[in-house]
Amino acid sequence: MKIFPTLLCLSAAAVDVVSAHYRFMSLTINGTKTADYQYVRQNNNYQDPIEAINNWNMRCNAGALQGLKTKTAQVEAGQTLGFSLDRMIFHPGPLQTWISRSTVPDVSQYDGSGEWVKIQSDDAKVQGTVLSWPNWYITEYNFTLPASIAPGQYLIRAEHIGLHLAQEAGRAQFFVSCAQVQVTGSGTNIPTGGIRIPGDPVAYLPRDYQATDPGIMLDINHATSYTAPGPAVWTG
Ligand SMILES: *[C@@H]1O[C@H](CO)[C@@H](O)[C@H](O)[C@H]1NC(C)=O
Ligand SMILES: *[C@@H]1O[C@H](CO)[C@@H](O)[C@H](O)[C@H]1NC(C)=O
Repeated sequence: MKIFPTLLCLSAAAVDVVSAHYRFMSLTINGTKTADYQYVRQNNNYQDPIEAINNWNMRCNAGALQGLKTKTAQVEAGQTLGFSLDRMIFHPGPLQTWISRSTVPDVSQYDGSGEWVKIQSDDAKVQGTVLSWPNWYITEYNFTLPASIAPGQYLIRAEHIGLHLAQEAGRAQFFVSCAQVQVTGSGTNIPTGGIRIPGDPVAYLPRDYQATDPGIMLDINHATSYTAPGPAVWTG
């Protein structure tokens, strides 16, 4: 379907005026979208973003430190997974996916306090003197679960960072959700090289998010390059 860019911009701006945002509501397994909040922990703040970088809601969104009502999806190492949103991503910014191995036997009781490792990052492309965002206007995306990842229970976290107001510290908007998965397969690699979410406010790990990170606080209208925050993608 072809949509005229001007119309798309106008309608996105109109939506913004009423403060409607977007949220990741369902997990896609092998190209099949599962039911909303079947495997994704349900948040209780509608479509609102998280802005406070040191808030626990940064992990899995508001009201989602546990997923006792959420099912855990059976997935295979190396397979294609994805997330779907309730409406399109219409703020500019990076789209990233993270994984954290459960530190307790049942991932529905895991609060995400362990290490988070990046497994996908959809960064800005520089076109002339402006940044363009490959994820702009999408309502779903895919990523690959590394084939060598060790079996076990994990949280997988989708993260889109809206950077339209990010010239001030604390104004980047984080849209996040976590899915609960049981990974099967013959992999042996435990994901490493990650961060804590939120970072420890007293003793930051080197790559933990901070409000003034260059990928989190910047004027995107005048930026000519961009690197998404956090460590490099772990490929297994
Ligand atoms: C996903 O697709 C792959 C490749 O077609 C297949 O081997 C695997 O069994 C599928 N897994 C699930 C959970 O459907
Ligand atoms: C996700 O992957 C599935 C299966 O591989 C494919 O059918 C679907 O078009 C992909 N979706 C996107 C948004 O790339």
